[in-house]
Amino acid sequence: MHSALHTRLCDLLGCEVPILQTGMGWVATPELVAAACNAGAFGFLAAATIQPPDVEAAILEVKERTDRPFGVNFLMDAPGADVIVDAVVRQGVKAAGYNRAPDASLIKRLKDAGVVCVPTCGAPRHAQKAERLGADAIIMQGAEGGGHTGTVPTSLLISEGADLVDVPIVAAGGFRDGRGLVAALAFGAEGVAMGTRFLLTAESPVPAATTERYLAAAMDDVLVTKQVDGLPQRVVRNELVDRLERSGPVSLLWRALRSGLAFRKLSGASIPQLLRSAMALRSHEKLTRAQTLMAANAPILAKRAMTDGDPVHGYLPSGTVTGVIGDLPSCKELVERIVGEAECTLAGLAGERA
Ligand SMILES: Cc1cc2nc3c(=O)[nH]c(=O)nc-3n(C[C@H](O)[C@H](O)[C@H](O)COP(=O)(O)O)c2cc1C
Repeated sequence: MHSALHTRLCDLLGCEVPILQTGMGWVATPELVAAACNAGAFGFLAAATIQPPDVEAAILEVKERTDRPFGVNFLMDAPGADVIVDAVVRQGVKAAGYNRAPDASLIKRLKDAGVVCVPTCGAPRHAQKAERLGADAIIMQGAEGGGHTGTVPTSLLISEGADLVDVPIVAAGGFRDGRGLVAALAFGAEGVAMGTRFLLTAESPVPAATTERYLAAAMDDVLVTKQVDGLPQRVVRNELVDRLERSGPVSLLWRALRSGLAFRKLSGASIPQLLRSAMALRSHEKLTRAQTLMAANAPILAKRAMTDGDPVHGYLPSGTVTGVIGDLPSCKELVERIVGEAECTLAGLAGERA
């Protein structure tokens, strides 16, 4: 492999190539994580949509499928985050991924146990804060990225972030191929993190009916809405999103209450726990009361599309990149292809192209 493709990130995480498969709720299952790791990349298990007491079993399932290192991604401000940290430490998981509301005491527990801390940030000032709190590498997700997203385009975010922090930056938001990987390295990142591209692989658990919606979407079918949970989320336009965009506050609130009760059953969280986490989110993200209630919507509505295979009544978090993805390679084929394209691009830039 070209030496430019072996970065500090590979040494830090113990992966062959500087490519991360990000934590995606309902999607980054043990099977997908293990397939990404076995292909030479580094996968993050999505724990945000697993009941905290069940996370340890999911970690063990990844271990059964791969002997390579992997990470666990979770929400630090959600009920049960401490239970997940305990499982990560007990199982000697290589890395932890987290984003909003970093908790200094949980980060200390992870670092004391030698877990590599890899938060995701969407703004340069958040990256500086994350580094001060002990991040060993930082995923910087630009506006093109799937799911919750910010407003700064990936290209500007990465070059700005790389100037501001010393730890390795991983570029996220809009990556799918080897040219993108080389571009990310040129902007100052030491690798790429991809969500949507790994969602569209042979090992992804997403049911066929939902996958077809992703594959059929054009770039301008992907939009940002605040109507799912009060925070800007990048999604594929569908019947549900169109309905939510037209809904008034009363029907949004009613929907959120129903989802909140369903999520309580699913997550095992008590009502006081849910309220505490909603209030923490509210103060951190400066949400209104109605938006706070809407936050309960997201996991339930995502599950409908991503697990139950109903892309009409569920929502489809997605990066803009889905508009230029039209195939479902295995993780191994994908990683090999990206490395081949990156080597070709690097050779071309060095004037070595035949
Ligand atoms: C279906 C889906 C679910 C996601 N769920 C989570 C999540 O649970 N936690 C998280 O930190 N990020 C989540 N994200 C964001 C991704 O981890 C990643 O940062 C983003 O997809 C990168 O942009 P890309 O899709 O252009 O590659 C999700 C993204 C998608 C597409």
